[in-house]
Amino acid sequence: MTAQWQKSDWRSKTRIQMPDYTDPAALAAAEKQLSSYPPLVFAGEARKLTRQLGEVAEGKGFLLQGGDCAESFEEFSADLIRDTYKVMLQMAVVLTFGAKLPVVKIGRMAGQFAKPRSAATETKDGVELPSYRGDIINDIGFTPESRIPDPKRMLQAYTQAAASLNLIRAFSQGGFADIAHVHSWTLGYTQNGNGYERYENLANRISESLQFMEAAGVNGDTSDALHRVDFYTSHEALLLEYEEALCRVDSTSGKPVAGSGHMIWIGDRTRQPDGAHVEFCRGVQNPIGLKCGPSISTDDLLKLIDTLNPENTPGRLTLINRFGAGKVGEHMPKLIRAVEAEGRKVVWSCDPMHGNTIKAASGYKTRPFESVLREVREFFQIHAAEGTYPGGVHFEMTGKDVTECTGGVRDVTDENLSDRYHTACDPRLNASQSLELAFLVAEELDQRRQSQQRAAV
Ligand code: PEP
Ligand code: CO
Repeated sequence: MTAQWQKSDWRSKTRIQMPDYTDPAALAAAEKQLSSYPPLVFAGEARKLTRQLGEVAEGKGFLLQGGDCAESFEEFSADLIRDTYKVMLQMAVVLTFGAKLPVVKIGRMAGQFAKPRSAATETKDGVELPSYRGDIINDIGFTPESRIPDPKRMLQAYTQAAASLNLIRAFSQGGFADIAHVHSWTLGYTQNGNGYERYENLANRISESLQFMEAAGVNGDTSDALHRVDFYTSHEALLLEYEEALCRVDSTSGKPVAGSGHMIWIGDRTRQPDGAHVEFCRGVQNPIGLKCGPSISTDDLLKLIDTLNPENTPGRLTLINRFGAGKVGEHMPKLIRAVEAEGRKVVWSCDPMHGNTIKAASGYKTRPFESVLREVREFFQIHAAEGTYPGGVHFEMTGKDVTECTGGVRDVTDENLSDRYHTACDPRLNASQSLELAFLVAEELDQRRQSQQRAAV
């Protein structure tokens, strides 16, 4: 963060993956309106999240970051938010229990609307149209009109994000997330898989512990920590007109803050060290995520770390690795060694989704759940070998009973994909698959803890 930084500086840099709006007057009007709206988050919350991620960077916590690939205007309801939120709470409980560490919970929610695309156009039945870029930019319908970027969509995204965040805050603070309700977060349709039984067993053990604590005089009334959770929001900071309009100077610190969400991240396609996205993100005080895919070089990574976290603040920067199962060993050790050699404090997180996307024989984009789990295992193995801390996971999921990723306890097959394939963009884990992932991570963390204890004896 430099004194000279201005929230509009990104405009003089090379921008990619952003729309070319065709109506400058409409764009200016939308930006003006958005700039007059209240920010969605308060800088003090972003700072608190940085501190909590700082603990993660030191190995004293674990980051759980997940939610939709792309939030949708059409599929927007309290039930959807609640169900995704429930799955996140369940996963967090499994992890807290397994890792015996605080879990920092961040949703890909309340702002995850803009999508980078690998191709600028999409062809169906011989018709070629501009790609869909997320509901904040254009419409998913396959007509020329739908695909025209419309700046007014930024205002609708803001409204939806505000309403989502309002509900998330109510759930987090109003009693819904009280650990005493650990049994009630289970979603009905998950009740016939072994993940469900494992979760119920664990929930029973937690209930017993709570009864014990209650008898000892500790309950949600006497201990706030049992009653409430901190739940943060995040999204890819892709549409910089939206980010700039919601960027504010925080009156407490005098520093700029992205008001669009607690944490923002830079995508794998837009992380050019001298590009527009890095320029915007370097100036705001929020915790920043950086997606690192197979094409990142150690030189670029170190340059990016210097630019994004010049003061080497633990928790400021989370490196979200997404190499693909079977490729982690080729890419991650050299990055870890370079970062360690420079003494840089980062959170290492694993996104086992984006490197494992394939096209199924049925034509659907999918992710084999086996590959997702395998990438997570490789991530843990490599950190164990390098003596560094595997600090978190980042994944795409939904509380809806979808069939988008193949495999898992309820064994979604290629033929099943069409049953309930609802995503607006990438295939997501359903609740059962998400829980299974959480149990795997919990086991990995538990093994790590035990081997450290053995080493300490
Ligand atoms: C995403 O997280 O939805 C995404 C597009 O990821 P990446 O930038 O890693 O491809
Ligand atoms: Co995605």
